[in-house]
Amino acid sequence: MSVSSVNPAPNSTNEYYLTRQSQMESNVRSYPRKLPLAIAKALGCWVTDVEGTEYLDCLAGAGTLALGHNHPAVIQSIQDTLTSGLPLHTLDLTTPLKDAFTEALLEQLPGGKKEYCLQFCGPSGADGTEAAIKLAKTYTGRSSVISFSGGYHGMTHGALAMTGNLSAKNSVNGLMPGVQFMPYPHEYRCPLGLGGEAGVDALTYFFENFIEDVESGVTKPAAVILEAIQGEGGVVTAPTKWLKKIREVTEKHNIVLILDEVQAGFARSGKMFAFEHAGIEPDVVVMSKAVGGSLPLAVLGIKRKFDAWQPAGHTGTFRGNQLAMGTGLATINTIKEQNLAQNAQERGDFLQAEFKKLAVEFPCIGNVRGRGLMLGVEIVDERQTADHMGSLPGDSQLAAAIQTACFDNKLLLEKGGRNGTVIRLLCPLIITHEECVEVMVRFKKAIAEALVAVRGA
Ligand SMILES: Cc1ncc(COP(=O)(O)O)c(C=O)c1O
Repeated sequence: MSVSSVNPAPNSTNEYYLTRQSQMESNVRSYPRKLPLAIAKALGCWVTDVEGTEYLDCLAGAGTLALGHNHPAVIQSIQDTLTSGLPLHTLDLTTPLKDAFTEALLEQLPGGKKEYCLQFCGPSGADGTEAAIKLAKTYTGRSSVISFSGGYHGMTHGALAMTGNLSAKNSVNGLMPGVQFMPYPHEYRCPLGLGGEAGVDALTYFFENFIEDVESGVTKPAAVILEAIQGEGGVVTAPTKWLKKIREVTEKHNIVLILDEVQAGFARSGKMFAFEHAGIEPDVVVMSKAVGGSLPLAVLGIKRKFDAWQPAGHTGTFRGNQLAMGTGLATINTIKEQNLAQNAQERGDFLQAEFKKLAVEFPCIGNVRGRGLMLGVEIVDERQTADHMGSLPGDSQLAAAIQTACFDNKLLLEKGGRNGTVIRLLCPLIITHEECVEVMVRFKKAIAEALVAVRGA
């Protein structure tokens, strides 16, 4: 059967496809359990299922679809690449298209190609974080890594070892050894129980002291890896002061600082990269998701001094996806031409303000946070007693019901954070003001319905 002859079966339903999917695919399926639809087509911020129902998509391929679905610039780029006669795949051999994409991508990094070079690796975010860690070990000759609670770096053995969430780790023995976790600042749930500036100051001091303490029990690491905004961990933004200190200390001790920009990268936070908000320059930047403009691609930006690889020191077959480099180039150009970083900032500010207003009406919204179009809404049980920092216990049952009610109201979004209590929005960067208003209309209806379903009120 050719692609063009694959049309939805007459009178087909979501249920028809979901049943077939459950019969043919592993139990590992995740999204279809929370968002039970079969997609027939998609455009911009909208997805249409096989029954003809339209959904507003604030998940956007977990942030991959920076320009939304089937953006004309992305489609044109795919068509141009197909008709250009270029090979679709080239390992790490170069082409004029790859050359142009490489240059355009380097220009996005601080100092551009004078400061950084690129490494194309296997196409997933986890491939990128794995390569970054191997490079840091190669460069320093050291073996351990510092990662942070709440961090997410992928699902392969090394990446999972550096990931905070325990549910995926508990069932897998033998993850990469040598990962030391440290607490990540959290405005609403300060891991030190201090909260506010005092919490940030203490964590900033703690990091420096820990690295410099000759009795810390932890040998000097090869790398520190972190997200400037934790995504899967529940949309937690690193305070500038803390991030600057991490940069200062890692530089002083020649520890490779790896910024995982797989999710926050590419204008989502209101700047091209989330680390730019703190004005720091990482040694290695990991990019995936949006970097391939909807298609699979992962790239490391490496400060030239740290490029310690020997030829073929790290390889991988799928490093040469020309279609993805074309769509990546089209995405960079569109982001720049249409100033989508600013759109992300403005639309995100509007949404945050609206969620904060909604929190007055619905006190089960305990905290609204994020930057640009990387937003988190933490769902709490306000009937319980707040702790000494004013934080209420999370309500994972209600958060799950809100996600379901959003789906029923044709709004696609994700959950994350500790025990899945944070509703997460990763809207396409092209979302309009009118679509944001529509997000809020649907969300408000959904939260009221979920409260009735879970609490009867
Ligand atoms: C920050 C971050 N790093 C790494 C990854 C892993 O990417 P992938 O799922 O493509 O392996 C993700 C995925 O969500 C991510 O958010």
